Amino acid sequence: MIENSTILAIASDHGGFEMKEFLKKKLFESGFRTKDFGTFSEDSVDYPDIIHPLAKAINENEYSIGIIMCGSGNGAQIVANKYPNVRAGLCWNVEQAMLTRLHNNANILSLPGRFIPFDQAWKMVEVFLSTDFEGGRHEKRVNKIPIIL
Ligand code: RB5
Repeated sequence: MIENSTILAIASDHGGFEMKEFLKKKLFESGFRTKDFGTFSEDSVDYPDIIHPLAKAINENEYSIGIIMCGSGNGAQIVANKYPNVRAGLCWNVEQAMLTRLHNNANILSLPGRFIPFDQAWKMVEVFLSTDFEGGRHEKRVNKIPIIL
């Protein structure tokens, strides 16, 4: 369970801008505060330029939880998962949002801003924030994610 005193990191490119603004409002109404890494308009931007700063901040533990969006959710997730301490789950429904916390200990939720209804995205965020990592056998698996060279 993420306490609503936690400041959540949030970011999107233009493809997720409208959803980001919607989710920010819902989060604010629920008592959460957000650090918005952009983008700040519907003008076209390159998703890596927006997502790298958020993912770096999560990687360095400046923020513990992030919510990211692009049109498909894919580009944003791919960038975020370049960072060793980031586990970004791309989710399309509530069950997946729950599972990526329970099983993957995801610290970033990636959403497809152009493909799911905004009220569904909000339900996914609520579930993501209220679900704890299950640990146990999943802890062993999550510990095996980092590349060992
Ligand atoms: C932007 O048009 C789109 O490519 C981007 O939002 C995202 O879907 C990339 O993965």
